[in-house]
Amino acid sequence: MRTHLCFYFFFIPFCLFLLNVSGQCRDDQRSLLIQLKDSFPFASAISNKLASWSTNVTTDCCIWGGVTCSSIGQVIGLDLNSEAILGGIDDSNVLFNLTNLQSLNLAANNFNFTQIPSRFGSFTSLSHLNLSNSGFSGQIPGELSQLTSLQTLDLSSLFSYGNRSLKLETPNLTTLVQNLTRLRYLYLDNVNISSQKFDWCQGLSSSSLPNLEVLSLSNCQLSGPLDDSLGELQSLSIIRLALNKLSSPVLDFFANFKNLTVLNLASCNLTGTFPKKVLQLESLQIIDLSVNTNLYGSLPDFPMNGSLQSLVLSNTNFSGEIPQSIGNLKNLYRIELHTTNFSGEIPQSMGNLTQLSYLDLSSNKFVGEIPSFKLCKNLSHIDLSRIEGFLPKFSNPSLISLDTLDLSGNKLEGEVPKSFFELRKLRVLLLSSNNLSGTVRTIDFQDRLSNLTILDLSFNNFTITTSVNLTLESRLPKFSSLKLASCNLKKFLNLRNQTRLINLDLSDNKIEGEIPKWIWKVGNGSLSYMKPFYFTRY
Ligand SMILES: *[C@@H]1O[C@H](CO)[C@@H](O)[C@H](O)[C@H]1NC(C)=O
Ligand SMILES: *[C@@H]1O[C@H](CO)[C@@H](O)[C@H](O)[C@H]1NC(C)=O
Ligand SMILES: *[C@@H]1O[C@H](CO)[C@@H](O)[C@H](O)[C@H]1NC(C)=O
Ligand SMILES: *[C@@H]1O[C@H](CO)[C@@H](O)[C@H](O)[C@H]1NC(C)=O
Ligand SMILES: *[C@@H]1O[C@H](CO)[C@@H](O)[C@H](O)[C@H]1NC(C)=O
Ligand SMILES: *[C@@H]1O[C@H](CO)[C@@H](O)[C@H](O)[C@H]1NC(C)=O
Ligand SMILES: *[C@@H]1O[C@H](CO)[C@@H](O)[C@H](O)[C@H]1NC(C)=O
Ligand SMILES: *[C@@H]1O[C@H](CO)[C@@H](O)[C@H](O)[C@H]1NC(C)=O
Ligand SMILES: *[C@@H]1O[C@H](CO)[C@@H](O)[C@H](O)[C@H]1NC(C)=O
Ligand SMILES: *[C@@H]1O[C@H](CO)[C@@H](O)[C@H](O)[C@H]1NC(C)=O
Ligand SMILES: *[C@@H]1O[C@H](CO)[C@@H](O)[C@H](O)[C@H]1NC(C)=O
Ligand SMILES: *[C@@H]1O[C@H](CO)[C@@H](O)[C@H](O)[C@H]1NC(C)=O
Repeated sequence: MRTHLCFYFFFIPFCLFLLNVSGQCRDDQRSLLIQLKDSFPFASAISNKLASWSTNVTTDCCIWGGVTCSSIGQVIGLDLNSEAILGGIDDSNVLFNLTNLQSLNLAANNFNFTQIPSRFGSFTSLSHLNLSNSGFSGQIPGELSQLTSLQTLDLSSLFSYGNRSLKLETPNLTTLVQNLTRLRYLYLDNVNISSQKFDWCQGLSSSSLPNLEVLSLSNCQLSGPLDDSLGELQSLSIIRLALNKLSSPVLDFFANFKNLTVLNLASCNLTGTFPKKVLQLESLQIIDLSVNTNLYGSLPDFPMNGSLQSLVLSNTNFSGEIPQSIGNLKNLYRIELHTTNFSGEIPQSMGNLTQLSYLDLSSNKFVGEIPSFKLCKNLSHIDLSRIEGFLPKFSNPSLISLDTLDLSGNKLEGEVPKSFFELRKLRVLLLSSNNLSGTVRTIDFQDRLSNLTILDLSFNNFTITTSVNLTLESRLPKFSSLKLASCNLKKFLNLRNQTRLINLDLSDNKIEGEIPKWIWKVGNGSLSYMKPFYFTRY
């Protein structure tokens, strides 16, 4: 068809150029692809690309979904990511006849816990290999260490499959990457590398990986300690080592990674004091050191031009104050510092963080006023629960995006601010165990907070009054959890329309009369937890 078209062009070289770029499929390559389609067991109803490959010999296989060709019509790229392939393949598969492949992606399929065929090592031109989340199991074949052009090697999976996970024993990590000197992106999350003891750092550095930018080894059963030799991988930009028992201090060399953007060392049993300089790296965007209860540290002054977006230090032994300079971090959208030893005032400058959407400072020792958050138009989650010595002047801002507000377990006094009832998007409101007083009318929740699903007002010093008009009360938001323990309730709420209620606590009130019979039908039978009521009978 295309050659035919050419005759109508006057300017022949242009025509040839067109042909080169379009890279019309060669017969042998089409034939291999068709055989490949037949050899791969896939669910044709779910597959997008494979299912559409046509056996019609007149179609150009280079434009088939997932296929990339060279200028002379050889298949050099194959992307069969998420094609619902189910079942194993072996060394005799026709896939290995596509010898010119430079890029191969079989991610997110289900190879049914079979081994990775060793013939993957025969793709000598391969620069990108992605077998992530594809259900391969067992020892990673040593032949992969021959793929010396590899820039990307992704054998990671989102989950660990226990003794059916991929593993690196023989060869070990050191041997696998020994000659892969062009490697830039290495993802082995959830691969079992436990056979390699503390020397995996030396293994990586001695392999001379001068271009390595991504080292992603979460939950690989690595052991520590971290070794200075890792610092030789100067190009590292993303380091993910979460969920390994490193049991080690974080060494100063991390501050020398000039291009570091992501550092995830969560749940590594880290010890010692975290080097402050790392937090001051201008390139750093995301840091997660959470769940390292033996890790000490404090926050530095943040640079004016810092790029930090996400700061997660929960369940560590970080202490000291949050510096006012946190307001410099214009891109910060997540601050998670719960269950740490921070103290002092919550800096008012936080109210300047226009990108802030998630703030959790719970279970700390902060004092003073909560910032107004006036400029935080994206704030959707505020957890300031259980903050010792907390003073309660919560002047309400225009938190139009607020989804969750947890202020429980503080020393809040005074009335529930009327402005809370203007937070129209609120789904979760937790104010329990404070010293709030006055009167709260159920009518305040009607209509206005129509999206509220979880409400806990238990254990305060106020009185909840219900509406005398049952029709009105049937317009309460549809709760999944409603806790009003010890709220001086005198009358049963009309919960007949609460079809989604799972969790109800009305204990420790002064409700008169009998339990209404309809209560057993509340939540259409889904009510699974109901705290005993205490009734006063007259
Ligand atoms: C093959 O494709 C060509 C061009 O799209 C079409 O004209 C022809 O009918 C097809 N043949 C079959 C058997 O489907
Ligand atoms: C997957 O493997 C199991 C046993 O390991 C086997 O019984 C089953 O038939 C395989 N399924 C497919 C689709 O190959
Ligand atoms: C695939 O390659 C093998 C040798 O590596 C050869 O024996 C076989 O005939 C080839 N298959 C096809 C369909 O070309
Ligand atoms: C790496 O390359 C060297 C030199 O070519 C060779 O001796 C060695 O066996 C290779 N290692 C692996 C694991 O292939
Ligand atoms: C990794 O394997 C190589 C080659 O078998 C061996 O020399 C080295 O000691 C191994 N390293 C570890 C930590 O097992
Ligand atoms: C850091 O990134 C820049 C830009 O991508 C690059 O030019 C530079 O070589 C990198 N530095 C290191 C040490 O890899
Ligand atoms: C955590 O690290 C400490 C100090 O290195 C060690 O004593 C302890 O056994 C480690 N805990 C776990 C669970 O590995
Ligand atoms: C918030 O930013 C403005 C303008 O940059 C600045 O003048 C003000 O001092 C900042 N407020 C706080 C509390 O840092
Ligand atoms: C309640 O939630 C729905 C769905 O998320 C949203 O479309 C609606 O605007 C919300 N209602 C209010 C009052 O914000
Ligand atoms: C409870 O609130 C009332 C006012 O409504 C106040 O007089 C009383 O002191 C408060 N009780 C406590 C324990 O704070
Ligand atoms: C209850 O409120 C509804 C809606 O506002 C109103 O139509 C109705 O008349 C009221 N009923 C009583 C008994 O006040
Ligand atoms: C509440 O339920 C009653 C019947 O049980 C129904 O007539 C009424 O429309 C419902 N009201 C709302 C607001 O869903």
